[in-house]
This record gives sequence, C-alpha cells and structure tokens, in this order.
Amino acid sequence: MVNKKKISFDVTVYDSFNELKSDDQNLMSAAVSARQRAYAPYSSFNVGASVLLENGEIIEGNNQENASYPSGLCAERVAVFYAGAKYPGMKIKAIAITAASLNHEVSEPAAPCGNCRQAISEYEFRQGQPIKILLMGETGSVIECNSLADLLPLGFNSSFLN
Ligand code: THU
Repeated sequence: MVNKKKISFDVTVYDSFNELKSDDQNLMSAAVSARQRAYAPYSSFNVGASVLLENGEIIEGNNQENASYPSGLCAERVAVFYAGAKYPGMKIKAIAITAASLNHEVSEPAAPCGNCRQAISEYEFRQGQPIKILLMGETGSVIECNSLADLLPLGFNSSFLN
C-alpha cells in the first residue's frame, strides 16, 4: 500500500517588529544588537541571534567569518552553543534571528540555514519542549514559528542512534 501524506505547519506573520508582543520585541532587539556586532567582512551579511533561556537570561550570538571561509560560523550556532556552554542542559524557550546586508536591504525574514536548523533541533529534541523561532530581516515582516521541528521535517535526531 502507498500513502501520500502532507506535511505542513502554521506560522504567525507580523507586519513589522512593532506588532510583536513586548517580550518578543525585547528578544528581537537583543538579536538586532548582536547583528550589529557581527564579524562578516567577507559576505557583508550580518546575522544576529538571541536565545531566551528558561531562567530568563538572553544569550546573544552573531556570525563569525574567517579568511578560510568554511571555518566561520553562523549566528544561530554561535548563540545556542554559547548558551549550552554557559548553562548546560538549561531549556531554551525562544530564539530570535535577524539579518541585514551592507549591500542591499533585507526586507524578508531571515531563514536559518540547514546546519543551524539541525544544531538547534538537538536542543529542542533533548529538552522535549518546542523552541519558538522568530525570524526577521532588517525591515519588514516577522515570522513566528512554533517549533524548530516545523522547520526541519523528517529530521534526524538521537532516537535513530538507539
Ligand atoms: N549566516 C548565518 O549567520 N546564519 C544563517 O542561518 C545563514 C547564514 C551567515 C554565514 C555567513 O557569515 C553569512 O551569513 C553569509 O552566508
């Protein structure tokens, strides 16, 4: 027997940063300030990510590029790895991500790359609780996703290793 299934997910789209609830504005503002400190001399594409932890602390990260290009790291992984290093095992409630280019206006929400989705999914799977993801460019709308798993359907996790 062959079954066709549809995998879909819901998002909330806010017209702009101003429509966000104040807690989310606060988290996104942290991502914006992290973005402004990004080290991206090769791509001129600055990304900031902020991680809201269960204890209320916000951890910030930004992309760190390298003259040997693959040695650089995305903002999202800098942020979640820093959070994991500082507070091992602490649950992550939400992550805000924002991107801006020095060459053009990024007016669409910044989508995390596949590697970052996989990295964040490790934390979500381990904590057994969804991580809310907020995506924004430099201007324009903000997309709220209910969980990382939504952004990585049919994902790989540690259950396959057991
Ligand atoms: N980048 C991120 O920081 N996060 C993403 O999810 C996508 C890409 C960075 C990597 C590189 O420094 C620059 O953006 C251009 O790809």
